Amino acid sequence: MIKNSFDIEGIRSQFPSLKRNINGNQAIYLDSPGGTQTPQRVIDKMVDYMINHNANSGGVFATTVETDSMILETRKSFADFFNCSPEEISFGENSTTLNFKLSQAIARDLKAGDEIIITDIDHDANRSPWEILAERGVIVQSVRVNTETLTIDLEDYKRKLTQKTKVVAFNYGSNAVGTISDAKTIIDLAKTVKAITVVDAVHFALHGVLDVKELDADFVFCSAYKFFGPHIGVLYSKSERMNVLKTLKVSAQKNYAPDKFETGTLNHEAIAGAAEAIEFIADIGRKHPEHILTPDSVASQRRNNIISGMRALEAYEIPLAEYFKDELKKIKGLGLFSPPKGHLCTSTISFRLEDLHPLDVAKSLAEKGIFVWAGGFYAVGLMRALGLSESGGLVRIGLAPYNTKDEIDRTLSVVKVIAGS
Ligand SMILES: Cc1ncc(COP(=O)(O)O)c(C=O)c1O
Repeated sequence: MIKNSFDIEGIRSQFPSLKRNINGNQAIYLDSPGGTQTPQRVIDKMVDYMINHNANSGGVFATTVETDSMILETRKSFADFFNCSPEEISFGENSTTLNFKLSQAIARDLKAGDEIIITDIDHDANRSPWEILAERGVIVQSVRVNTETLTIDLEDYKRKLTQKTKVVAFNYGSNAVGTISDAKTIIDLAKTVKAITVVDAVHFALHGVLDVKELDADFVFCSAYKFFGPHIGVLYSKSERMNVLKTLKVSAQKNYAPDKFETGTLNHEAIAGAAEAIEFIADIGRKHPEHILTPDSVASQRRNNIISGMRALEAYEIPLAEYFKDELKKIKGLGLFSPPKGHLCTSTISFRLEDLHPLDVAKSLAEKGIFVWAGGFYAVGLMRALGLSESGGLVRIGLAPYNTKDEIDRTLSVVKVIAGS
């Protein structure tokens, strides 16, 4: 069932945190939608920056020159990650903050009566930054989610999309239930009314290949801590959009991309670590050339390696997640909240156990050293649509490529005990 060419022990040995013990049990990290663990090489890169290259940017002495060069190299790494140009990459505190800055900048060109579309499956980080614009008279429409398939209702989207729509902001991968949205269709439709598209790829980024060229998206954001890196947000902005964007900036700041979007001093050590997280994925790709049949001849070698690396991670994780779901379904009283077979989804799986509060389930798992999240995960629209806002939301299990079948089996046996089956 689960392909063995993936060197799971080799992967695990790179993550020092996996050795942690809780109450005599080896910890099982099933919390990846909240953030993954970090390989030693990423940690080393950050320490190396702080020891050997620590400085502010823009000067003439060794450490500042090295800092500028490191930032530029990281922009190149993310250009390969997103499939764009280095100047289309901006760094920031986290995705939420980047999106607030983006929405406020876009809003400078909006007027009362203009419309913005968001969706009910969105994380609040891609809802509130747009909803707040209602105070300027902008009308925000939220597209319904199909509660059977846990997907964005495309018919409702088509109904809401009009010539008044100026922005379409939507979620690429649901951090609550794992749904992967049909981003290409959503963007193609948005383009028919010339709306700006903003894609929240924070959850998706760990589970699929980002390709902003293929999507033809205007803005896409993600956070490196969701894919083996440190806590930092990264924004892709299509040049033609960023060039005309009235960003919020101090007057001394350069007025061209990417600097025009980056306020103040950046988190240099995190930028250094984020580049290494991409190298970690690319190195997996180097070991799995079988996942890329026709390398993109225009793309860099690193881009091709990132693509095969991401595909290798998914080829390992998805069968594990399928096995997990099939076994969960057998547990009496367990209700699974996952898109049905045939719909694209990540290896994030949510459920409820009849009569048990999700937080109590998470606590019982935590006592056995199994780290899972419970609640609404800021997916406010989805929880409302599912009628779960007042009753504690869901228990969420999120796989990462360092999880093993043994860990899944150990988790299943604890869930069975909690369920009393
Ligand atoms: C889908 C999604 N969007 C946005 C965010 C917010 O990201 P950040 O914590 O970097 O602001 C998260 C965080 O969990 C998320 O899962």
